[in-house]
Amino acid sequence: MEFSDRLKNLPPQFFATLVQKVAKAVAEGRDVINLGQGNPDQPTPDHIVQALSTAAQSPLSHKYSPFRGINELKQAAVDFYSREYDVNIDPNKEVAVLFGTKIGLVELPLAMMNEKELMLLPDPGYPDYLSGVGLANVQFDTMPLLEENAFLPDYKQLTPDQKEAARLMYLNYPNNPTGASATLEFFQETVELAKENDIAIVHDFAYGGIGFDGKKPISFLQAKGAKEVGIEMYTLSKTYNMAGWRVGFALGNSKMIEAINIIQDHLFVSLFPAIQSAAAEALNGSQECVEELVALYEKRRNTFIEACRKIGWNVKAPEGSFFAWLPVPNGYTSEQFADILLEKADVAVAAGNGFGKHGEGYVRIGLLVDEDRLIEAVDRIEKLELF
Ligand SMILES: Cc1ncc(COP(=O)(O)O)c(C=O)c1O
Repeated sequence: MEFSDRLKNLPPQFFATLVQKVAKAVAEGRDVINLGQGNPDQPTPDHIVQALSTAAQSPLSHKYSPFRGINELKQAAVDFYSREYDVNIDPNKEVAVLFGTKIGLVELPLAMMNEKELMLLPDPGYPDYLSGVGLANVQFDTMPLLEENAFLPDYKQLTPDQKEAARLMYLNYPNNPTGASATLEFFQETVELAKENDIAIVHDFAYGGIGFDGKKPISFLQAKGAKEVGIEMYTLSKTYNMAGWRVGFALGNSKMIEAINIIQDHLFVSLFPAIQSAAAEALNGSQECVEELVALYEKRRNTFIEACRKIGWNVKAPEGSFFAWLPVPNGYTSEQFADILLEKADVAVAAGNGFGKHGEGYVRIGLLVDEDRLIEAVDRIEKLELF
């Protein structure tokens, strides 16, 4: 049987290798502390599960959803953005309902770009952006996110040719994997760059709900003129521990939203209506659960970072997301260091080079286990005497 070039061109799934290595270690009976992945460990708050349960019993939920999602969810997304970010969105033209934001990020190049056209991606960055590149068969250039620039891209480094050719740019703050946050000035600069060079912007706000030290992450749509040049993608996966539910939305530029909706008209019949109702409840309901979750992650972050510094590991505290981005000791590559931690300390971390060339020299850990396991992980690492 023959398969398409498109299928053959798809990049290998970076996390699949890590999952295999961890599964092998666990199968050998080892007590692995898995800090390598990004799967929230806490349950979905009760009131959201209850809303699903109630909505699941309504016969309305048993029919096809309207193609472009139920109005209740789109209105909830709009009200949420008005309340949380003081941003005005038209629920009819400026919101698209998504099966999680991964699908939105992957389908957008298909909807907006022709083959071989150029998109700009952050390096290091979320590996699944490359799935969209592969499926649409477009080209990409990367924008290095360097520690000395607070992990923001330096637009001065883009060449005139890149600015001329680029059709689409992805950004993501709070950032996976670095944990860095963006400023409003940076987003404003992004809008100007986009206007001058006719580049469509997508801000992936997956960790929008998770900012530390009392600093609320800034929405790209808060920048003046943002809606003229781009959209933001928001997921319920992280803010409400709903990763398995597959629900998110895109908002902003009406032409880009229409492009997403057209491609989705051909791919899907939107989400199970009861999931959409429960997502509306998450957005409309009390946000106390989010405050509690952020406090939990912040406590874990503080404990972990303090423990690392105590053993002489000079690490920076993340400003948001649930990741920490840690430099590897001299003399090791990211992959060698990650392998040693797994083999000799039974601690799984993600090697930074899996997020791009500029991820080399770092590993990423997720703050997704209890504090005592985080401390134990650092204790085990201390015994290797690498610092
Ligand atoms: C940066 C980033 N963007 C998008 C996603 C996708 O989230 P979802 O598809 O669950 O909405 C993730 C998930 O890990 C992520 O880390």
